[in-house]
Amino acid sequence: MSIKIIGTGSYLPEKVMTNFDLEKMVETSDEWIRTRTGIESRHLASQEQAASDLAFEAASRALTMAKTAADELDVIVVATVTPDHFFPSTGCILQRKLGAHKAFCFDLEAACSGLLYSMETAKSLLAANPRYRKALIVGAEKLSSITDWSDRNTCVLFGDGASALVLAKDDEPESEGSICSIQLHSDGNYAEILQIPAGGSRKPVSEETLAGREHFIRMAGRDVFKLAVNGMLSAGKDVMAEAGVEAESLRWMISHQANSRIINAVADRLALPEEKVFINLDHCGNTSSASIGICLDELNRSGRLSKGDYILVTAFGGGLTWGAALLRWQQQQF
Ligand code: ACO
Repeated sequence: MSIKIIGTGSYLPEKVMTNFDLEKMVETSDEWIRTRTGIESRHLASQEQAASDLAFEAASRALTMAKTAADELDVIVVATVTPDHFFPSTGCILQRKLGAHKAFCFDLEAACSGLLYSMETAKSLLAANPRYRKALIVGAEKLSSITDWSDRNTCVLFGDGASALVLAKDDEPESEGSICSIQLHSDGNYAEILQIPAGGSRKPVSEETLAGREHFIRMAGRDVFKLAVNGMLSAGKDVMAEAGVEAESLRWMISHQANSRIINAVADRLALPEEKVFINLDHCGNTSSASIGICLDELNRSGRLSKGDYILVTAFGGGLTWGAALLRWQQQQF
């Protein structure tokens, strides 16, 4: 028995905001943003679009690639920090949009590590229960809705988007799965360095919290930077060691797209050459839980993934949460 990734999908909203647009909104420059983060532009959802709308587009594309009808799905996991509502879950809203009536659906909140957490969750569910055959995992974010557009420390970093993967169980005893190894970590001691202070049960909405702009992302960027490099590096090394795969054997490293300096610091410490490090944050920015899946889909649809390729995936986000997965691509070239 093995679990295979049989379809990828992603969606980036039409509207593009460039660094030059941001220059008109806060005291910043294209040069600062490009050199400090690697970002040149990002996509923004329209007012009418919520996370589930972005999720629907990405999920539909992944299901089409997987040649899977929505009513074949047993489970839908949506990773998001920007759900349509506190409840019902964005997973249930996506279920309705897709017509996936057989599935049970829920949201998972692990910030930028959300898709990795969802992968482990879906893989474990499929492996544990003989009745479950297919799962859809989605990372969907409308980060523009929780971005303080007057704060230059954060507003230059984020973008909107969604990605989706279809996972299927193969009962052949000798079959090889797509997920060789996966390891997840959390450390709640760092909860405050990356958070939205108000709007939850700790500090419900009030005139005071609104005036203090406490419903937007707050981040201690420098602290997050160091922890992100160390966390993704050690998790990345651990999954490779567990699978017995050396860094030289990797075809790609895909890291959460927060900052090209963070990604390159991890790649340098693994002695990975530039051509094996996939970066698309120049045109996406940080899309939190969507970012890794957008990268995988971009690589897949441009024919840059082949059967047998080893892909190291690493992620890091609020919580703190972090982790890594070593994938072995099982699809024929798209
Ligand atoms: N334009 C111009 N100057 C700026 C801007 C801006 N947009 N933003 C900050 N600055 C200034 C700062 O005010 C500071 O000025 P000062 O020295 O006068 O105080 C100076 O630039 C340097 O600031 P630093 O914070 O030291 O800049 P740094 O090189 O660390 O880059 C950044 C900041 C990009 C935020 C970086 O720390 C980073 O990427 N951190 C990690 C982010 C991350 O990984 N997030 C992960 C998950 S996100 C999620 O979970 C939703």
